[in-house]
Amino acid sequence: MKEILVKGGRRLNGEIDISSAKNAVLPIIACSMLCEETCVINKAPLLKDVFVICDVLRSVNSNITIEKDRIVIDNSNLKNIEPDSELVKKMRASFLVMGPMISRFGKFRISLPGGCNIGTRPIDLHLKGFSALGAEIKLGHGYVEVCANKLIGNRIYLDFPSVGATENIMMAAILAEGETTIENAAGEPEIQDLANFLNSMGAKISGAGTDNIKIQGVKKLRGIEYTPIPDRIEAGTYMVGAAITKGKIRINGIKEEHLKPIIAKLRELGVYIESLGDSIIVDGDREFNPIDIKTMPYPGFPTDMQAQMMSLLCTIKGTSLITETIFENRFMHVGELKRMGANIKIDGRCAVIEGVDVLTGCDVKATDLRAGAALIIAALAGEGYTKVGNIYHIERGYVDIDGKFRKLGANIERVEVE
Ligand code: EPZ
Repeated sequence: MKEILVKGGRRLNGEIDISSAKNAVLPIIACSMLCEETCVINKAPLLKDVFVICDVLRSVNSNITIEKDRIVIDNSNLKNIEPDSELVKKMRASFLVMGPMISRFGKFRISLPGGCNIGTRPIDLHLKGFSALGAEIKLGHGYVEVCANKLIGNRIYLDFPSVGATENIMMAAILAEGETTIENAAGEPEIQDLANFLNSMGAKISGAGTDNIKIQGVKKLRGIEYTPIPDRIEAGTYMVGAAITKGKIRINGIKEEHLKPIIAKLRELGVYIESLGDSIIVDGDREFNPIDIKTMPYPGFPTDMQAQMMSLLCTIKGTSLITETIFENRFMHVGELKRMGANIKIDGRCAVIEGVDVLTGCDVKATDLRAGAALIIAALAGEGYTKVGNIYHIERGYVDIDGKFRKLGANIERVEVE
């Protein structure tokens, strides 16, 4: 088994390139099932979650080859069979094949996704959308069966601007008859990217990125070649790494627009950030002040950056407050940070953080993807050695995280343990 070993105390310096966004690539790979022609995804991030969703598609006879960072997907011989349930349970995002499958086959049976550490992860809004389009839903024995002779466009209101539900309903409506409107839709950049991919295939989607998305049903889609957007959460993670180590780094290949809430809160805290078009300079050699953060749907502060920011706030004198409004259980990193000497009190969805003079290195364990990244960030500023276990969580969403931090001068390596 592998762990990540960090010796804290080094200021980050230098520059790195950002990979394509995991949360854009996953729905894009799923929606390639909507057409029989070959789709090619360039600059794909070679991550565990990407390999899992490719295997889910392969389990319904998709022919996928991965050559370096280029994924070639041929769905001309897809079979309307049940996707591999072990794979679906392994990763929630596998559920994104539902929309394309209902569109292409009119029916399917799939294992319900497991919850995960950060919450129960229900799918009621996904299913509400499918039934509004005319599908019949049957739940039972850990499976969901969906059947629709014909999908008819409809108006669908999302009680919560769910990213996955917006994506799944959009994909289910693409080939439906007539117009579908998704009200209170999620507006994350990854949804805009999925709409761009689908429109390039010949779909007719407008309003992606706003809370009101319109989809005009079309008859057929064509295969395309596409490069997804850069990963705003990966970029944010390295920005926080520069801040906590009082380093100065340049991050290349970003879309500044997508980083607005992260840039705003880091500037509020005292970090110097200079925009250079598709790169930014982050200089943490400043005096910082405590701030309050509330996670919100885009363009609010992203929940996927909450844990990383908490690590930084632990080292800033004064009292900071984090309110997590998206997931009901996304504070599992708190226990691990307290092992490093952090002073954090949880009250329901709020975490009150009192800055401490120093975080001390020790053995910690990643509990989910972003919590794992937060522990590495804390270790970069920690005194002495920190060993981060369960790094399989981290490998799901970060391309070569130790290599990129090492390139920035961190004393970090991947070690084999019994
Ligand atoms: C996506 O998950 C991301 N994953 C998550 O990133 C991200 O944290 C999340 O959006 C919020 O931004 C991918 O894109 C693959 P949601 P998703 O549906 O779609 C409730 C990471 O670290 N909800 O927007 O599952 C749900 O319980 C991952 O990269 C319902 O109640 O998130 C949650 O409280 C973690 N009913 C809230 O909405 C539903 O039918 C947000 O969930 C669906 C969701």
